[in-house]
Amino acid sequence: MAAKKKILFSAAEVLPFAATGGLGEVAGSLPEALSATGKFDVRVVTPLYGEIESYWREKMTFLGSTAVELAWRRIYCGLFSLEKNGVTYYFIDNEYYFKRSSGLYGYFDDGERYAFFCKAVLECLPLMDFMPDIIHAHDWQSALLPIYLSYRYDYPQIRTVFTIHNVEYQGKYDLSILGDVFALPPEAASVVEYDGCINLMKGALECSDVISTVSATYVQELRTPEYGQGLHPIIERNSRKLIGILNGIDVVGYDPSQDDLIFEKFSAKEFDKKAINKKELQKLAGLPVEPNVPVMAVISRLAGHKGVELICQAAEELLQGDVQIIILGKGEVRYEDWLRSLQEKYPTKMSAMITYNKDLSRKVYAGADILLMPSKSEPCGLSQMSACRYGTVPIVRATGGLKDSIRDNAQPDGIGFVFEEYSAGGLLGAAYRAIDLYKDKQAWKALCIRAMEEDFSWDRSAGVYAEMYENISASY
Ligand code: GLC
Repeated sequence: MAAKKKILFSAAEVLPFAATGGLGEVAGSLPEALSATGKFDVRVVTPLYGEIESYWREKMTFLGSTAVELAWRRIYCGLFSLEKNGVTYYFIDNEYYFKRSSGLYGYFDDGERYAFFCKAVLECLPLMDFMPDIIHAHDWQSALLPIYLSYRYDYPQIRTVFTIHNVEYQGKYDLSILGDVFALPPEAASVVEYDGCINLMKGALECSDVISTVSATYVQELRTPEYGQGLHPIIERNSRKLIGILNGIDVVGYDPSQDDLIFEKFSAKEFDKKAINKKELQKLAGLPVEPNVPVMAVISRLAGHKGVELICQAAEELLQGDVQIIILGKGEVRYEDWLRSLQEKYPTKMSAMITYNKDLSRKVYAGADILLMPSKSEPCGLSQMSACRYGTVPIVRATGGLKDSIRDNAQPDGIGFVFEEYSAGGLLGAAYRAIDLYKDKQAWKALCIRAMEEDFSWDRSAGVYAEMYENISASY
């Protein structure tokens, strides 16, 4: 049998250790799915954040420490590891950088923190005793890996894949810190420079062997000014390296028949038990228990590109009728305020839970009837898939992975409602179609069950990843 190909994933967040969103879900489930194919030795490296619970820390082994040189700094770096479901996870330890008080990101020195992280990953390869064939770097926080491999290290055999989970976050910094913070030589300037700034994502796009993103539609969108966030010319120029692979989800983790976090377990066969979850959710959200009023939920970061504006606009109209709306998420203050004010205005119909809470999100997936996801842009989106698993019908805008994962109910095998135009009217049109169908209990149940039975596992795309990894090596 051929030796297993060695792949090192680098991601700034990985579930179940620490996460804020979709990247954590993917980095926490794709490696295990790849490992299960038997073709790959997959390992994952991530920072040892203060948030990581002692439950996991107790399972870790200390592998050693080294001093990482970053420009004029010499920085302590410890390395820990643990094994889970066939995958080795490595944790880069430096308390100054990663033991912070309010979340994973958003600090003044994020650039320096992730420069340290990327440098540390490469410096720790000997401690890992693992020489990867491929380093698969995710999002801007890991963007320096392919760049450092091009300018700072002599590992010609290592191939690199860079995955864009979201082009909205590129890692932009002032050019003056190229040497001092990022420890890059002047000859790297033209590669990482874009629009007068350092742009780490741009550098990674130029330096990596393959650029992947998380749906086929998003690949095409990224090439346009509307979606490319300024990087479309770079993406276009590198289009021969570009591939779109739709994400899967952890279908064992998101299974209503096994989920201890929901009020009452259920399955497609025992669909009627979903009603218990609805009742308990209505109580939890402080809404009247109304079994026949459709509950529409939003589980999202409250950021502009998630379409929160459309939700707020459409809610004003929807709330005139017989619906309940539950929001779970936090983000931009203006949206948080707008949603809270809607709750004040319609206290018996609207509940705004302004928090990021994974446990609560399970209860909302299980208890709601409909999930609203009217994103302006959505590289893949995972909530629409999780919602389907819990028999909650998604209403999505036809963009990115939403378009690639949800078929409209107008088709015989539809599993949701899809609208094209990014407008409150577009969202309302789809919402009214859903509310109409909801009145027909039989038809609605059939739709929910189709959604529950759709295959969202990684099995669908693990083969495409395998082929991509094979091709990278074959092309050199
Ligand atoms: C980002 C994207 C989301 C995608 C996720 C995982 O969070 O915004 O669309 O599903 O990454 O790839």
